[in-house]
Amino acid sequence: MVAPAEHTFPAHRIPTLRVVMTPQQVNLMGTVFGGAILSEIDLAAAIEAHKLHQGPVVTVAMDKVEFKRPIHIGDLVSFYTDVERVGTTSVTVRVTVWAERRKPPFETVPVTEALVTMVAVDEHYRKVPIRR
Ligand SMILES: CC(C)(COP(=O)(O)OP(=O)(O)OC[C@H]1O[C@@H](n2cnc3c(N)ncnc32)[C@H](O)[C@@H]1OP(=O)(O)O)[C@@H](O)C(=O)NCCC(=O)NCCS
Repeated sequence: MVAPAEHTFPAHRIPTLRVVMTPQQVNLMGTVFGGAILSEIDLAAAIEAHKLHQGPVVTVAMDKVEFKRPIHIGDLVSFYTDVERVGTTSVTVRVTVWAERRKPPFETVPVTEALVTMVAVDEHYRKVPIRR
């Protein structure tokens, strides 16, 4: 189960990934398509997993992704990652996502978070132990 997001923007931390949302990613409501954010969450989790394992990793699960607020075109979206668990062949990464608005009142808001589990695999897609 995903714990509640931090409600203080982690300004002191360097995000794993930062993206400016463009009009290509818009849904019918004029805000960012959820799938576009899921894709970036997946990438951020993989970047974090690669700090622990140098070989290929694949996503086995994304747990309870909740979109708390809309993301607008032009928002600067930051993806922060924390390793929650290192198993035998898997790494579980918490990805916390914040959006910095580009229009008044220029607030920075938590928009979503997810727990992503990545599994280390060999060239035949077979799971292998995490090599630290
Ligand atoms: C990932 C994959 C290689 C795992 O192979 P598997 O033989 O089924 O592996 P297991 O069920 O033994 O699980 C492997 C690890 O993942 C973990 N895991 C499996 N299912 C999980 C789930 N639903 N949630 C969290 N962790 C999970 C297991 O706990 C285990 O971790 P551990 O070794 O650290 O204890 C295989 O399921 C696969 O190829 N999946 C497709 C991956 C993919 O294509 N991803 C991109 C999506 S488009």
